[in-house]
Amino acid sequence: MKIFNSIKEMQVFSLSSKRDGKKVAVVPTMGFLHEGHMSLIDIAKKEADIVVVTIFVNPTQFGPNEDFSRYPRDFERDSRLCHERGTDAIFAPEASEMYPTGASTWITEDSLSKGLCGKSRPLHFRGVTTVVAKLFNAVLPDLAVFGQKDAQQLAVIKRMVRDLNFPVKIIAGPIVREADGLAMSSRNKYLSPDERKNALSISSALREAGKKIFGDSAGLRDFVSSKISSNGGRVDYVEVVDAETLEPDCNFERPLLIAVAAYFGTTRLIDNTII
Ligand code: PAF
Repeated sequence: MKIFNSIKEMQVFSLSSKRDGKKVAVVPTMGFLHEGHMSLIDIAKKEADIVVVTIFVNPTQFGPNEDFSRYPRDFERDSRLCHERGTDAIFAPEASEMYPTGASTWITEDSLSKGLCGKSRPLHFRGVTTVVAKLFNAVLPDLAVFGQKDAQQLAVIKRMVRDLNFPVKIIAGPIVREADGLAMSSRNKYLSPDERKNALSISSALREAGKKIFGDSAGLRDFVSSKISSNGGRVDYVEVVDAETLEPDCNFERPLLIAVAAYFGTTRLIDNTII
């Protein structure tokens, strides 16, 4: 398995793989890998000949009071896991490689990124779209695999790819859960044992909501919200939106996304389900 820190070396490797007729897939990550990421690598391996995992904790998608500096990092462990799972290359640039001094160009998606997480994290998706575009330009992939857990991120990236004509196919990987239902996330590491137990209310509320019949989306939202609050969670949002357009006031004939963000202690968790 190769490890590249420079964009130039990454591009040379990808271009030469493509010249040899190989299809290149990228799995963008911020590291501290878990089984959710591994499942994305498995999907990439099925779809392409060469799998590149990017590991970069992207500073521009964190707000000033968010967890950039304490975001968990363990490159040794990540590279071992990637190697064991059959990854061909890791791209792990320094921030100075990705953002040269004076960098002043951004990609903003102006519609899908405004609601849900965009309300409390106003610059988050600008950081995500900008870094994903830059990772695409470094890895030059034919396809990219992103997790459905970050449903809004996935929708925003699909929109960016469509609007800016990136020649990259976007594939969604299903949410991977712990045995008790908690959606896997690198941030689960922050939870105390009690917070972790209480955080199960998110997945159980979503599961129950998916099985019940509600007269309208407000009833559904209240149901999920009160389950989480009564277990000590601080709800940032519970939204019911069109699974594709992320528009509220959705048509109950089309697939709906129930999306949640809630704090347990200081840890902000997200989860969702499509019904
Ligand atoms: O989902 C993530 O881990 C990040 O938002 C991504 C897509 C790697 C961009 O930094």
